[in-house]
Amino acid sequence: MARNSSGTADQTPVGIIGAGPAGLMLSHLLHLQGIDSIVLELRSREYVEKRVRAGVLEQGSVDLLNATGVGDRMKRQGLVHEGIKLRFSGEEHRIDFRKLAGRSITVYGQQEVVKDLIARRLSDGGDIRFEAQAVAVGDISGQPTIRYRQAGDHRELRCRVVAGCDGSHRVAASSMLDDSFQVYERQWPFGWLGILARTPPATDELIYAHHERGFALHSMRTPEISRLYLQVPADETMDHWPADRIWDELRIRLNEPKLKPGEILEQGITPMRSVVTEPMQRGNLFLAGDAAHIVPPTGAKGMNLALNDVNILAEGLVEYFRSGARDKLDTYSERCLRRVWRAEHFSAWMTGLLHRDPAGDPFEYKLRLSYLRYVTTSTAAATTLAENYVGFDPGPTPLA
Ligand code: FAD
Ligand code: PHB
Repeated sequence: MARNSSGTADQTPVGIIGAGPAGLMLSHLLHLQGIDSIVLELRSREYVEKRVRAGVLEQGSVDLLNATGVGDRMKRQGLVHEGIKLRFSGEEHRIDFRKLAGRSITVYGQQEVVKDLIARRLSDGGDIRFEAQAVAVGDISGQPTIRYRQAGDHRELRCRVVAGCDGSHRVAASSMLDDSFQVYERQWPFGWLGILARTPPATDELIYAHHERGFALHSMRTPEISRLYLQVPADETMDHWPADRIWDELRIRLNEPKLKPGEILEQGITPMRSVVTEPMQRGNLFLAGDAAHIVPPTGAKGMNLALNDVNILAEGLVEYFRSGARDKLDTYSERCLRRVWRAEHFSAWMTGLLHRDPAGDPFEYKLRLSYLRYVTTSTAAATTLAENYVGFDPGPTPLA
């Protein structure tokens, strides 16, 4: 059996794999309830704090960050948006979230959420082990053990419960999956080329643009930094995208002459996938966030779902560690999946609506335009977009 350098295996009530938003928030929520955890993270602290990803927080995520005392910087620096703009066929239409859904969203980079959570965990004495790679989880129906590698050593962490928050890498998931699980999956035939650039946003609200050359999105991080995306083929590489081409294409697709090229601080291509693993748990192993489900980024849901999962999981764990009752833990997956599937549907719907069909079917193209026109002229259709975008919780009670 692999041991630590001291010859013993470490122990913790909750072993958490991954220091993304899911793993860090879970560790923070448990700490607030007096429950210890150890977080194992493959990458360095510097790497995870710089990894540019999501940018949109639903009101529920904002409320969670504030209620648990990690929202101060977000309150000062986050940009509150009351709507988005849809552009197509040379027109612009605004979807007014406040009016249609009574809520707003906050634009605040995922890496800022990660920085805030790491700083808070460390100042609270939390144990986050960076550059520690989980390789397998054993004995998930009893007292699970995480085997991991750190600084060339093989180590073990004995836990009562393991939370697999390791994103799309799926080490935790592969330790539990067998024929009794369903993995629902769709591969989209395109990806997003994303850049972070030192240029003031040319817009005060996010612009989602449908164009015959492909989708484009204008988002932002601060009054000086813009975040921009272009639809590209799934197997595209950055070699084909020198800076001039990126800026030209953004200006054309966004139909935005005010957008000025600036220094590109970060760039990359992300393929698009939809995935749901059902159920999200087995024995004493629980998956949360991207480890359990992935959405294409068009609906801006991934980080929000991750935070929602761990909020539900923490509730179950608190009950379990306080009283031994497993009722909430045993229904964890069920309680997450309604919202997960709502977000999957919304993200797939937004993706289909706004992207160019790579097969170039002219009938499809006309159908999308017609639907975009519907969404921007019918209050019912616009409300559907707005209430899903700001975060819709499909509670257990159907409409009367
Ligand atoms: P992750 O953030 O992926 O964290 C998993 C962590 O586990 C990582 O730090 C990883 O290094 C670590 N890890 C992996 N394997 C191991 C291992 N074996 N051992 C130890 N550690 C391991 N979501 C939104 O809500 N809004 C948006 O606007 C949005 N935009 C997006 C734009 C893009 C381009 C992309 C790519 C994603 C976007 N998302 C968005 C999705 C969002 O970024 C993810 O859903 C979110 O990161 C999920 O958080 P997580 O904690 O579950 O996983
Ligand atoms: C972002 O700001 O990174 C962002 C915004 C909206 C999305 C996806 C990403 O739909």
